[in-house]
Amino acid sequence: MTKELKKVLLEATHEAGGIILSYFGGTFDIDHKEGINNLVTEVDKLAEAKIIEIITKAFPDHSIIGEETGMNVQVSDYQWIIDPIDGTVNFAHGIPLCCVSIGLTYKGSVLMGAVYNPMMNEFFYAEKGKGATLNGQPIHVSKKSDFKTAFLVTGFPYKWPETSLEHPVMVFERMVLQGLPIRRLGSAAIDLCWVACGRFDGFWEYNLSAWDVAAGYLMVLEAGGTITDFEGKIGNVFDKQTLATNGLIHKDILRVIRNTPGAE
Ligand code: IPD
Ligand code: CA
Ligand code: CA
Repeated sequence: MTKELKKVLLEATHEAGGIILSYFGGTFDIDHKEGINNLVTEVDKLAEAKIIEIITKAFPDHSIIGEETGMNVQVSDYQWIIDPIDGTVNFAHGIPLCCVSIGLTYKGSVLMGAVYNPMMNEFFYAEKGKGATLNGQPIHVSKKSDFKTAFLVTGFPYKWPETSLEHPVMVFERMVLQGLPIRRLGSAAIDLCWVACGRFDGFWEYNLSAWDVAAGYLMVLEAGGTITDFEGKIGNVFDKQTLATNGLIHKDILRVIRNTPGAE
């Protein structure tokens, strides 16, 4: 079964990547969702349709959550969580930091995940208990333990929901004031994969959706990293707070996010 699941996951990810690459830098319809800057293109829809076609052909009784088509509620232990293009705003502007991301959960925990950025020819794959790879080569989180020299990445929501949490810009300000180099790439799936392969030491973002993180979540864990919410609690891909690190700087970054004593 695992072999067949993996085959379908890889095929769907490759096919969607091919669609993304064929339109990249060209012309396509662009629309927006709830907010005027939250874009969706015809390529998002084409890629998601192809992914769903491949999955349902092989596993018609599996449950599917797709960012653009919503939920196909089937009673199944298996659930596919699809982001056809993560980093749509980058894609729409010809910036090659975008990818297709597909995670497969079994009884609620991620079993396997794939993230493919065809513009950079980077294919990340992880399987529970079997490690994570980039283009077939094993990857590991960084070994950086000195938070003062940590290289971090984050993201910001378009709309700040009613919440008692402080605005992410305040957290960002605290990080910047410590002199830390921080990036905002515009694709949470790539952010997570780049933590998994050791390019970044940590990533945090508030208010992501399951399709943004499902595959990258497993990538980080299988590469030896740590993922919690902003209180340090281990959760799942449906959590609204994502803090992913190499594990070694986790407590330090948590202190800055929470603004607790000891934060430098
Ligand atoms: C977005 C990206 C971005 C994150 C946004 C997401 P999309 O996904 O992951 O990095 O900051 O919150 O919505 O819309 O490009 O699929
Ligand atoms: Ca996304
Ligand atoms: Ca998307």
